[in-house]
Amino acid sequence: MNKIRVPDIVKKKKEKQKLVMLTSYDAITASIVDEAGVDIILIGDSLGNVVQGQDTTLPVTVDDMIYHTRLVSRGVKTAHICADMPFMSYQSSKEIALENAGRLMKEGFAESVKLETTDEYIDTIKSIVNAGIPVMGHIGLCPQSFHTMGGYKIQGRNKKEKNLYIKLAKATESAGAYSIVLEGIPLELAKAITNSVSIPTIGIGAGPHCDGQVLVINDLVGLHRSRVPKFVKQYADFRDLMTKAVKSYSSDVTKSKFPAKENSFSWSN
Ligand code: KIV
Repeated sequence: MNKIRVPDIVKKKKEKQKLVMLTSYDAITASIVDEAGVDIILIGDSLGNVVQGQDTTLPVTVDDMIYHTRLVSRGVKTAHICADMPFMSYQSSKEIALENAGRLMKEGFAESVKLETTDEYIDTIKSIVNAGIPVMGHIGLCPQSFHTMGGYKIQGRNKKEKNLYIKLAKATESAGAYSIVLEGIPLELAKAITNSVSIPTIGIGAGPHCDGQVLVINDLVGLHRSRVPKFVKQYADFRDLMTKAVKSYSSDVTKSKFPAKENSFSWSN
């Protein structure tokens, strides 16, 4: 398969083909996701939650994102690689945003960046795009606004907000973004936004009418201790599988069943 580039992603909407996006944070997982044929691998700042064990994504740094993006880039041959801009890497000025987007590309080998988008960041998107860096927008539930939202709450529930969100999506497209993540919004709103823009929308907790879908890989394979949110479909139970494997290993070691002869080296062979 040829490498998936930004124009291929945009074309998929025109050809009415669904886009598949998944997060990854390390080379081995990324190679599995890539070989399975996913279009876009997102190094999400969700790594703050699912890799670092933090309560929110807020403590994630640009250096953390560069480190994990570089790991992912080593495992990927085909999928497009998009890296999240973490909290306070683009909020304070356009210049700082551009510098950090550039670092994600130069040092992390990202092929595009994503930033949580409100009206305040439309000019920031323009300046990053003008520098030749493709940008994915992200509207609706924005996890970096955890404290402002008062938690991870579904946004746009009020029908009156519909026009504001459509306006924001159109402004994101006009600023040059090549796609938009729609997170945590009612399916009717996601449908209206998807029909209002010519760039692909990629939903998470936004219903079936988006041009593509994204999930956090840890949720999809069931690595969590806690109950998964309603919008997640868990396709495997890796936590249970790993727990059983670790317990079997532990039992074998304590009963001196491991290592056996076949797991050992000897002077005679
Ligand atoms: O950080 C992340 O993983 C994300 C996705 C949930 C879209 O932004």
